[in-house]
Amino acid sequence: MSEMDFLIENIQHLPAIVESEESIQDKFAATFIEFMELSHLYESAIEIVKTYLNNLAGEFNVKFQRNPIHNIESRLKSAESIVGKLQKKGLPITPDSARRNLLDLAGIRVTCYYISDIYAIADMLRRRDDFEIIKQKDYIKNPKPSGYRSYHMIVNVPVHLSTRKHYAPVEIQIRTIAMDFWASLEHQLKYKTSAALTPEISEELRDCAERIAETDIQMQKLMMEISQL
Ligand code: GTP
Ligand code: MG
Repeated sequence: MSEMDFLIENIQHLPAIVESEESIQDKFAATFIEFMELSHLYESAIEIVKTYLNNLAGEFNVKFQRNPIHNIESRLKSAESIVGKLQKKGLPITPDSARRNLLDLAGIRVTCYYISDIYAIADMLRRRDDFEIIKQKDYIKNPKPSGYRSYHMIVNVPVHLSTRKHYAPVEIQIRTIAMDFWASLEHQLKYKTSAALTPEISEELRDCAERIAETDIQMQKLMMEISQL
């Protein structure tokens, strides 16, 4: 092929190359907007659940002169964690794949005072007829092998936006202050090291969780005794 022929051939391809760059940009913009819309939907779902929990706590306070909730924290999974989790599961890395495959994009952690408060709050969440309970795991009755205790729920929350009603799943972790104390420290200790914990250390952590659980039960009994006085 002469130099001229080569140039003509490639010049003919130029518009196609330019077009494909534009389409890459369009795709990026579309994905970005989709991600922003998804984030907004999940943020809205978190706010709906938080408002409901705060209203319940207020009602409980009026009825029983005590707030069952110590603290409510929430988070939206970061883009980095979403990509990491999808990659680990070998799933497509798109906003739609995240929406379909990850049920913990929106997360709420409720810290309560007593074990009975956890079940009261879980009951109230279940009683809301517009919330669909997708999953429930009682890691208090059935602690994880690590010693982890909490009540987990995944609730599909209706979010009314301008054109229609959307649903977003929200992972709600409900635990006592004592369970939260253990989970926070254990999480920090685990992530301090990239190596797997030795069986001895795991056993000690489990032992701590058990002693903390005994204290939780003792405090629950005290609360019940005192409320009878
Ligand atoms: P993930 O893929 O991690 O979301 O697991 P899963 O879908 O099987 O849910 P699971 O109910 O087991 O746990 C979800 C969340 O509970 C985790 O992201 C942690 O926040 C918390 N969790 C579970 N196990 C432990 C544990 O052993 N220690 C601590 N500190 N937290 C835990
Ligand atoms: Mg998770």
